[in-house]
Amino acid sequence: MGSNREDIFRFMFWILVGSGVPVEGNMCLKPEFYQNMRIGEKLIVEPMVIYQARGLLDCYRQCGFYSLCQSFNYNVETRQCELLALNNSIAEPVVNNIIMDVPNRHGQLFGSCENHVCPNNTACQVEGSHYSCVVVGCHGNPDIQNVNITSFETKSLWFFNETVLYACDAGYYPSVNVTCSMAGTWPPLECLPFNECEKRRVCGGYATVGGEYWLFSETLGGWVKIYCRSVHNREHVTLHGINTFTTPTFLKDPITCDPVVNPNLPRMGYTDFQKARILMSQIRIKIDVDAFHYSNSTFKRQNFGSAGDCVDNDVNDTNSDCGLIGRFVINTNGTGLRIKSPVTWETWGDGGRVGNITQSLDGHRIEGYCGSVVGCGGCQPTELLLELDPIYTPPFDSATRIKCKTLNTK
Ligand SMILES: *[C@@H]1O[C@H](CO)[C@@H](O)[C@H](O)[C@H]1NC(C)=O
Ligand SMILES: *[C@@H]1O[C@H](CO)[C@@H](O)[C@H](O)[C@H]1NC(C)=O
Ligand SMILES: *[C@@H]1O[C@H](CO)[C@@H](O)[C@H](O)[C@H]1NC(C)=O
Ligand SMILES: *[C@@H]1O[C@H](CO)[C@@H](O)[C@H](O)[C@H]1NC(C)=O
Ligand SMILES: *[C@@H]1O[C@H](CO)[C@@H](O)[C@H](O)[C@H]1NC(C)=O
Ligand SMILES: *[C@@H]1O[C@H](CO)[C@@H](O)[C@H](O)[C@H]1NC(C)=O
Ligand SMILES: *[C@@H]1O[C@H](CO)[C@@H](O)[C@H](O)[C@H]1NC(C)=O
Ligand SMILES: *[C@@H]1O[C@H](CO)[C@@H](O)[C@H](O)[C@H]1NC(C)=O
Ligand SMILES: *[C@@H]1O[C@H](CO)[C@@H](O)[C@H](O)[C@H]1NC(C)=O
Repeated sequence: MGSNREDIFRFMFWILVGSGVPVEGNMCLKPEFYQNMRIGEKLIVEPMVIYQARGLLDCYRQCGFYSLCQSFNYNVETRQCELLALNNSIAEPVVNNIIMDVPNRHGQLFGSCENHVCPNNTACQVEGSHYSCVVVGCHGNPDIQNVNITSFETKSLWFFNETVLYACDAGYYPSVNVTCSMAGTWPPLECLPFNECEKRRVCGGYATVGGEYWLFSETLGGWVKIYCRSVHNREHVTLHGINTFTTPTFLKDPITCDPVVNPNLPRMGYTDFQKARILMSQIRIKIDVDAFHYSNSTFKRQNFGSAGDCVDNDVNDTNSDCGLIGRFVINTNGTGLRIKSPVTWETWGDGGRVGNITQSLDGHRIEGYCGSVVGCGGCQPTELLLELDPIYTPPFDSATRIKCKTLNTK
């Protein structure tokens, strides 16, 4: 209690007497020492460091030593000294509290640390007639792309071993946990884009949540809306239009061309796709094996992009008598992607023929006919590469951009 009174007495005394007041031995205080002092108020801001001071002067000195300290809250009763990196935040009335700015490091109070130029993440330490800069934590943010600067700015001084949460922007994850090292530096860091469903595992929370995600395609240099399943990490694109592939289950009467039902031939069937399986690294639609999870079929299932028929026609006439009746429609409208032109087609089965195939002007829809001139055959694309749709991008909030809090434990 005695020293509280002493503190109060001291600053009352400074206010009255002004400069040249002898305190703590032979040190003299200049007017700026108490210039910015506000009694009975407290700055409401997260302190950079909390220090148990011996008195007001001690708190003032500590603030001066810390390069980032601009002001402090000092509690006359508890002598708790909160070093603050800001001096312009909101003040509230608090009994027993004093706010002071430390605009410079002049004066004998700081010894050889007077006017020191220590780096931001250090505090000055008096060493006889010299000073050293002692690392006290980490400050600032790594100068790399896609860091979440807001996260780094939540604190002006990060303690040793403290980890920055959400260190990267949405859609990116940190290559390492961003933990302040004992040297006061951030680890070598990269913010890497989520580029496949599997990567959801690197951070907590999303690994088993199925849904639409924005994933970055290195091949396209852009973000694509991809459906990730809850368990499996195979990428799919949700289709909005009808995507249907057929080898019709009927033959044709060679004279009248009227349908003759015969659903028993092994390649006949119909398949509709609701989602197309995507190979992310090449950004192409997988057309066969493992591509059918989001499809339904009647009779024999048909590959994505494939059509055919089992109608015998005049082998020497591609616009043959009854025509090619295997119809297909690929429609990527609304996905933000479209099929890259040109598409090359290959035939399958016996006597496969590529019929008339058309692509809509906007590139979203490819439809056509394939079939056979003898036996069962048809055509399918050699590959279906995708590109970003220059006309349409799905709404930003129709898919999740993953926010990575910290890395999972390996
Ligand atoms: C905060 O400190 C800076 C320099 O240390 C000074 O220029 C500025 O006036 C101070 N602001 C307030 C609100 O005291
Ligand atoms: C130290 O921090 C202050 C405030 O954040 C900033 O203005 C200044 O540029 C920093 N100095 C260095 C050398 O990083
Ligand atoms: C930080 O972590 C390292 C290694 O785990 C440990 O040796 C060190 O004492 C820790 N430092 C602090 C200030 O906690
Ligand atoms: C960026 O950091 C702020 C503060 O930590 C956080 O609120 C925000 O969600 C972060 N953004 C991302 C994309 O993680
Ligand atoms: C797929 O399911 C839809 C809806 O039940 C149905 O309308 C369609 O005919 C089915 N397609 C095939 C090829 O079975
Ligand atoms: C088709 O053309 C070939 C030779 O070009 C001929 O040998 C064959 O008889 C023709 N077939 C029919 C059904 O006309
Ligand atoms: C394409 O061929 C089918 C059958 O072979 C025919 O019904 C259709 O009219 C043709 N379409 C065009 C645009 O030529
Ligand atoms: C794509 O969708 C838009 C709006 O839903 C529609 O206006 C357009 O005609 C569609 N294009 C194709 C090729 O289906
Ligand atoms: C990252 O930090 C979190 C939270 O501190 C911790 O649980 C996790 O094990 C760390 N992961 C790695 C790979 O260091």
